Amino acid sequence: MKIDRLFLVIAAIYILIGMALGSYMGMNQDFTHRTTHTHINLLGFVSMALFALVYRAWPAMQQSVLAKIHFFAYQAGALIMVTAIFLKYGGHAEENVYGPMFGGSEALLLAGMVAFLIGVLRAARD
Ligand code: HEM
Ligand code: HEM
Repeated sequence: MKIDRLFLVIAAIYILIGMALGSYMGMNQDFTHRTTHTHINLLGFVSMALFALVYRAWPAMQQSVLAKIHFFAYQAGALIMVTAIFLKYGGHAEENVYGPMFGGSEALLLAGMVAFLIGVLRAARD
């Protein structure tokens, strides 16, 4: 499957989970996981759906290894970040557990975004 489709499919999975968590919070009036919900929906769905549209609009960007770096780094980063937020705000783990997860996931997300930026700059130049 191409990167644009992969981002789109995974984005759709994230929003389903994000909405389910939002509904759970609303039904129980328990907003402990608000920040997890926010990032599943925005880091997961909104950002990934936008990436899908960008790769769809500039298909040449997908041919580059930069797109693969972006995809894999972003996927790993988003998953670890959302898990770390869940552990922190849910009170399920101590700082020594989620701290390194935040550091690692931020590095992955930033690396992915640098690859994306270089791809975008190349596409803008052509
Ligand atoms: C079935 C759909 C959804 C339900 C039931 C739902 C429910 C909720 C609930 C209960 C809160 C917490 C409000 C509070 O803390 O007072 C919340 C916050 C939030 N939701 Fe959703 N949500 C849904 C979909 C979405 C989607 C699709 C997005 C983004 C694309 C989104 C973005 C946010 C954001 C950014 C916040 C935090 C707002 C703030 O901090 O003030 N939600 N949502
Ligand atoms: C490296 C990536 C990111 C990190 C480390 C990060 C971290 C954080 C932190 C620490 C908060 C404050 C939570 C609190 O109130 O205690 C926050 C809130 C928020 N972030 Fe992010 N975030 C990231 C990416 C994003 C992205 C990409 C979006 C949107 C596309 C986003 C949207 C929001 C929103 C709307 C809030 C306020 C609502 C809430 O607290 O739930 N974040 N973020």
